[in-house]
Amino acid sequence: MVNIAVLGYGTVGSGVVRVLTTNQEKIDKKAGVPVRIKYVLDLRDFPGDPVQEKIVHDYNVILNDPEIKVVVEVMGGLKPAYDFTKAAIMAGKSVCTSNKELVAEYGSELLELAREKNVNYMFEASCGGGIPVIRPLNSSLTAEDIDEVSGILNGTTNYILSEMTEKGSDFNDALKEAKALGYAERNPEADVEGYDACRKIAILSSLAFGKTVKYSKIHTEGITKITPEDITFAKEADMAIKLLASAYKDVKEDGTEDYYAMVAPFLVRHGHPLYNVNGVFNAVFIHGNMLGDTMFYGSGAGSTPTASAVVADVVDAVRHLNRSLYVFWDQDELTLSDNGSHVRPFFIRVPAEKKEEAAKLFNAEKTVESSDIPSEAALITAFMQENEFRKKCEEAGYVISSIRVNV
Ligand code: HSE
Repeated sequence: MVNIAVLGYGTVGSGVVRVLTTNQEKIDKKAGVPVRIKYVLDLRDFPGDPVQEKIVHDYNVILNDPEIKVVVEVMGGLKPAYDFTKAAIMAGKSVCTSNKELVAEYGSELLELAREKNVNYMFEASCGGGIPVIRPLNSSLTAEDIDEVSGILNGTTNYILSEMTEKGSDFNDALKEAKALGYAERNPEADVEGYDACRKIAILSSLAFGKTVKYSKIHTEGITKITPEDITFAKEADMAIKLLASAYKDVKEDGTEDYYAMVAPFLVRHGHPLYNVNGVFNAVFIHGNMLGDTMFYGSGAGSTPTASAVVADVVDAVRHLNRSLYVFWDQDELTLSDNGSHVRPFFIRVPAEKKEEAAKLFNAEKTVESSDIPSEAALITAFMQENEFRKKCEEAGYVISSIRVNV
């Protein structure tokens, strides 16, 4: 038998208990040995909940128990999760986590430490909830030179945008629902301002490119500035607004490489595979030089989908108790280039009387009108450099809002 401890009995922690209890027999068979939760660490007590008999309030109980081979860290945040994770690894215990904040900040360091201590640090649940994407990056795609990772990486914002688009819901009401469904972060600013997606793309691109992509260096915009008017015009243009996170490498003619990363709302055209990724679903594209495109799709947030990925890591950790699995993620920083030179079309809303003027200035490929908002018009500009676009907006002075168009 292998004993494990769960740190945190919140949304994901309770999901981990549920997954292990519901699928116990199958999990034991797949792990090769019975896997049992011995402790659950939480500041609170849970009288009446069967977990109560396992609740401990002192982390040292877990740390000093040689029977605990795997620690599940699902507390979230950097403190005390970083110290707890480090201490567990130092004590020769593997750690499985869903904590994207911690992995984005200290992932390469903790992996290095785990390697030294011959244990594993696993974080499948940190990106895309229940979607298997970390493991494919680490194992199934190792023959590839990956040049792009991109997609929808936050369930809360995708849920909000879908509700606003499909049902005309109000932003705050949709966010409230996302919280009630267990999708949102404790502080949902991380979701709606794009920070959560930013950490996830930092983790995925670090694994894809093999060096540390610092999340603090990634240009990040959230969805708080998206209005019902933007959504109305997007629908008229037969497009959907999605919060996209992307990272890619551009190989120049002289063979040198530039790396780019960004999180921002984009307009996605009808017919694009991401157009129909709605609600809490996430989708991740990975492009490799031999394979071409591959796409991973599934539940991107929520208690049991995320917990399922955590428990899958536990099974893997149990199968490799005395062997540290190699993960290609160097501590050296990967320098990101400025996004200003990117060329793409942009969607803009302008006052109705400026429609023709704007169409000329931005060399519009399409103009859109809506009978619901007769005072405005929307345009899709020609392809242009982001820097040039910003300059033109400033020059015009009448652009009400702008969103990048995905190409
Ligand atoms: N708040 C996150 C999301 C949870 O909505 O995607 C899953 O990481």
